[in-house]
Amino acid sequence: MTSFTINGRPVSTTIEDDTPLLWVIRDEIGLTGTKFGCGIGMCGACTVHVGGRATRSCITPVSAVDGADVTTIEGLDPKGEHPLQHAWREIQVPQCGYCQSGQIMQAAAMLKDFPAPTDEDIDAVMTGNLCRCMTYVRIRAAIRQAAG
Ligand code: FES
Repeated sequence: MTSFTINGRPVSTTIEDDTPLLWVIRDEIGLTGTKFGCGIGMCGACTVHVGGRATRSCITPVSAVDGADVTTIEGLDPKGEHPLQHAWREIQVPQCGYCQSGQIMQAAAMLKDFPAPTDEDIDAVMTGNLCRCMTYVRIRAAIRQAAG
């Protein structure tokens, strides 16, 4: 049995310990904002926060989050009013949108470490979050705007 909180809500699962957290989030808990892209930790579509740190849920066994606080895009701000979400809407960052929840979760974790990031900081942290629509310029602008 693995127990943790997700977006502040306690959950438990008896699924096999090595099941990726991503599948528990999507299939057992029913939060589908977190996406499957590559399944090998290389694209960032599945990014959530575990204890406030950006984490690839596709390569994180669910047993590894026992007792932890997990946050998904649905819990970043209950009303979708996180500064990054504001900036994402204003700048109209997404194109197809598939990778964007992972992008926002990665950026939100980064802003805790770099409240006023330079373009170099942004590029260094966000380089592992891939976007096949090439929205990188708008992503960077939105992060700069959210950082104020
Ligand atoms: Fe997890 Fe690509 S789906 S990093």
